[in-house]
Amino acid sequence: MPTQELPIGVFDSGVGGLTVVRALREALPNEDILYLGDTARVPYGTRSSATVERYAQRVAGHLVRRGIKALVVGCNTATTYALDGLRTVGTQRGIPVIGVIEPGVDAALAVTGGHVGVIGTEGTIRGGAYSNLLKARNPDLTVSTAACPLFVSLAEEGWVDDDIARAVAARYLSPFAGGPDTLILGCTHYPLLFDAIAHALPGVHLVDSATSTAQTVVRALSEQGLLKQQGVGTTRYLVTDNERRFRDTGLRFLGTTPQPTELIDLDDVDQAAWAAEVAS
Ligand code: DGL
Repeated sequence: MPTQELPIGVFDSGVGGLTVVRALREALPNEDILYLGDTARVPYGTRSSATVERYAQRVAGHLVRRGIKALVVGCNTATTYALDGLRTVGTQRGIPVIGVIEPGVDAALAVTGGHVGVIGTEGTIRGGAYSNLLKARNPDLTVSTAACPLFVSLAEEGWVDDDIARAVAARYLSPFAGGPDTLILGCTHYPLLFDAIAHALPGVHLVDSATSTAQTVVRALSEQGLLKQQGVGTTRYLVTDNERRFRDTGLRFLGTTPQPTELIDLDDVDQAAWAAEVAS
């Protein structure tokens, strides 16, 4: 069973989840965070559901073996395909498992006038988790979706509000003109492109789920008596490939260089640790 002293585990395919770490650091300054960026297998957004689920279970298994008190899935694609399975095991272990989709949906429902747009990776849009949850919460809602795969590369390249970013945003988002009053940024990379997206859709509320996800984590830890009350939290970063690129690119997502980093290998033991729990 988890204790207050353990870190919060957060993962993403690479650097995108650092936008969630940034919000967690602000909401929970006492907490230690153990982040895992699966940089050897990025991107998740173009892969099949079965592959994303397998990757997510392997990452979760590794974090759980190291010891965490909560698991934050800082990736919309992994939340789409793996959250339910991860929750089943998390519940057995007393570890709350929090994804980024439900908090984003709640934040959008709080501001929308009736038409919500969702943008994300191909996998996230194909999986339909946002549309299903939005419609389940409010059947009268109009929901429009679009995959914007190039946004991930633009965010990592740092081309976030120049002519190229604006042209790409205009092309992906032109079908939304005169449509949604609220747009969910359904990929943890997309907050970097906030200005370019806002320029393409003036007057539309843009919802970044990082802050609402952090609030959900605060509530979950507090309900289980797992909040750390004092001390200055630390953050450590595990990556499965190319530490230098992770640190350089991560700077733009986190606001400071993500360090210290540690290069790790995920193996079948990690997957087996998780899968065994699912089966039991
Ligand atoms: N950050 C991931 C997400 O939120 C997308 C990046 C990727 O395709 O791996 O879905």
